Amino acid sequence: MQIPVNRPYQPPFGQYQAYLERAYANNWLTNNGPLVQELKSRLEEYLGVRHLLLVANGTLAMQLAYRALQVRGSAITTPFTFIATSSSLQWEGIRPEFADINAASFNLDAAAVSAQMHAGVSAVVPVHVYGNPCDVEAFETLRAQHDVKVIYDAAHAFAVKVGNRSVLSYGDASTLSFHATKVFHTVEGGAVVFRDADAYSAAEQMTNFGIISGNKGIAGPGINCKMSEVHAAMGLAVLDNIAQVLARRIAAFQHYKHLLADVVSLPQWHSDANENGAYFPMLLATNEQSERVLAALATAGVTARRYFAPALHSLKDYQYPGMAPCPVAADYASRTLCLPLFYDLTDAEIRYVAQLVRQSL
Ligand SMILES: Cc1ncc(COP(=O)(O)O)c(C=O)c1O
Repeated sequence: MQIPVNRPYQPPFGQYQAYLERAYANNWLTNNGPLVQELKSRLEEYLGVRHLLLVANGTLAMQLAYRALQVRGSAITTPFTFIATSSSLQWEGIRPEFADINAASFNLDAAAVSAQMHAGVSAVVPVHVYGNPCDVEAFETLRAQHDVKVIYDAAHAFAVKVGNRSVLSYGDASTLSFHATKVFHTVEGGAVVFRDADAYSAAEQMTNFGIISGNKGIAGPGINCKMSEVHAAMGLAVLDNIAQVLARRIAAFQHYKHLLADVVSLPQWHSDANENGAYFPMLLATNEQSERVLAALATAGVTARRYFAPALHSLKDYQYPGMAPCPVAADYASRTLCLPLFYDLTDAEIRYVAQLVRQSL
């Protein structure tokens, strides 16, 4: 049996085709077409947010958010994340600095960030790792106290709420990735959700070369990171099925948890938030144990993934003087694995994977 770590959700082809046929009938394939507009308003409604801007991918979403919010100098972020979180900062000429993660949630620790604040820091970039919300209240306090922008990398946090409120509504902006492997996807794509209407408008212009809407001149430097109608078509077809996608992924997450929670540790989920079944991360007791599990799974045709390793603060680009150590992130990177989790993973496959994990422990 071969089980990949991830597999994109494909909506019934006829549903995707029906949206594509609309794009063809309109002969409008990109540049804020009707399907992009429909997807934007349906996502705003579904997620319970305003000022959502669709873009070409989740990395450009982050770059755009930094630009629109005029982030400069340094930004403090988490070392326990995918490389795009820090490389998007670097690409924009912003220095990523790292603070350690919280040992329970695996998310950026607000107290550690606070301890590292200095005059050159203009933003904090926490990540809702695996879809588990950060301590958003603590970051709200920090935002006010230090007059910094808070931009959440919410690439994993589609459809997550804290209480009744979308996790995307916290901070100055939140960015989403709609990559094919994500809970909700547009093949490639992403979005920024801004708190503020002006920042949204500034970013919207930037997505289209800086051209002022209605072709009224150039507002400033821009880029091309528009979402196309073909990508929006996939998004609309996936959104039509999102309730069943989420239900299945959450059930798979719960099934793994039931089978493995006594032998591995899981991130402590925010007490007031829902799960979204984006990943099944597990923390093993030692690096050696994680190597053993990875090897046993690989031999049986199952791909698990070190997600995230290495911890980003250890990369050579980020070795500046006075850098804070991040021992928790370094330790967790060496012994965290994500198991296969995707829409059509069967219960039998989950039992098979969990049994292999248990045997190798
Ligand atoms: C935490 C995180 N941030 C950013 C990204 C980048 O998103 P994209 O692949 O859409 O550019 C990803 C993608 O996997 C991610 O996991």
